[in-house]
Amino acid sequence: MLRRIPADSVQSVVTSPPYYNLRDYGHPEQLGNEETPDAYVSELVHVFRAVKRPLRDDGVLWVNLADTYAGHADNRNVTHGGRGHATGILPGRVNTTSAAPRKSLLGIPWRFALAMQEDGWIIRNSIIWHKPNGTPESVKDRLTRRHENLLMFTQSQSYRFDLDPIRDERGSSPGDVWKLSTRPSKADHFAMYPRELPERCISASTVRGDTVLDPFSGLATTGLAALGLDRRYIGVDVEDSYNAQAQDRLTSEWESITNPDQQPLFEV
Ligand SMILES: C[S@@+](CC[C@H](N)C(=O)[O-])C[C@H]1O[C@@H](n2cnc3c(N)ncnc32)[C@H](O)[C@@H]1O
Repeated sequence: MLRRIPADSVQSVVTSPPYYNLRDYGHPEQLGNEETPDAYVSELVHVFRAVKRPLRDDGVLWVNLADTYAGHADNRNVTHGGRGHATGILPGRVNTTSAAPRKSLLGIPWRFALAMQEDGWIIRNSIIWHKPNGTPESVKDRLTRRHENLLMFTQSQSYRFDLDPIRDERGSSPGDVWKLSTRPSKADHFAMYPRELPERCISASTVRGDTVLDPFSGLATTGLAALGLDRRYIGVDVEDSYNAQAQDRLTSEWESITNPDQQPLFEV
């Protein structure tokens, strides 16, 4: 799909890929269930390499990722060595890597950020998305997780970026900790971010009429934010049923947040 998007046509990419080993989206081509963190990270880097052509040189890429604990997801019982030396899954352990014993954070956003840097991207920001209403956890020997990462990458030293639309009431820069609550959703999809998150990214890195892309579109929260700000949207998702729900959502919810006389411009 990314190859079908014209070169230099996208001003900003705002996306949240499937997190490592956390969910099964039920599709054979889905990303996120690779045997090792290294394999997962290289799949992601591969996707974002394909984003470089449609993304303009002065464009910005925003990637929301959460971390995973080794041994956290015991949905698999791998007993052979993994591909990567540092992160091969140890024999007899469940989702445990030699780099990270059971219970250790895998450091997925950091591994990803550094792999992207090696692939030529400039890491401009590592934003903490503070979720005051994050999922409750019963664990007693560590702190409850209340944040995810939002990484901002560029291809060039200079790029389109304007802080003014996202300044707070006193005119200060919003800083790199964003406190945004998740909202419960009736929709049949479980990992949506709140619309304010892509809204901030899009407001700072595009102007009206620009095109925003989400290569892991889900129910197109990025699209909703883009259309609401008079941007165009291209969403790609491996799961047809999500694309259908995304189209419905864009048509119905979009009208409630914008001028009802305008026609939505989107392609999913
Ligand atoms: C975390 S969800 C995105 C949610 C989205 N930000 C929203 O608010 O609706 C990740 C999405 O990636 C999709 N996905 C998984 N593997 C994919 C692949 N190889 N290509 C495209 N999409 C994929 C899943 O179907 C899922 O909808």
